[in-house]
Amino acid sequence: MKRHPALIPLSLDHHDALVLAQGLILGRSKAPRSDWPTSRTAQIKRVVGFFTETLQPHFKAEETWVFPGAVRFLQDGPALVQNLISEHEQIRGLIRGLEQNPTINLETRLPTLGRLLETHIRTEERVLFESMQRELPIADLEALGAQLARLPARGPSCRAHYDSPDNTDARSKRSADCNNF
Ligand SMILES: [Fe+2]
Ligand SMILES: [Fe+2]
Repeated sequence: MKRHPALIPLSLDHHDALVLAQGLILGRSKAPRSDWPTSRTAQIKRVVGFFTETLQPHFKAEETWVFPGAVRFLQDGPALVQNLISEHEQIRGLIRGLEQNPTINLETRLPTLGRLLETHIRTEERVLFESMQRELPIADLEALGAQLARLPARGPSCRAHYDSPDNTDARSKRSADCNNF
């Protein structure tokens, strides 16, 4: 199902986070022109920067605006949201741990973070967002979209390629062009 315009600001963050997650899991980027560092220590700096700039406000927006609607309107909403909030806490904890101890066991800790981030985002995209755009009353979905549209713009990103929700090629084009991670 094509993503509803109301949810696109968060789907853009998800795209960037998935690229980052791949870099953490593989230890390198698949994109030939990527400037993703091969040094695990340098990768921590990228992760912490991405967390501060993008993931923290993203999590807050989900917890403030998205999850309450899911709990209210989706049949499995309460259990789904409980799991997603728990994953937010795990991700926050892993990143805090990397800030506090950026040297030990990085070959395990960074891929673990990448896999958790990937699983979390796939659940939001494939389960939460799909259900919300199918089941939320249109007025509530639009009110949510108005809130999310006020989120401050993030950088660095490849969003120029993804600003039209009607462009079905946008995701793959954006992915191919995005070399920030
Ligand atoms: Fe989330
Ligand atoms: Fe998310």
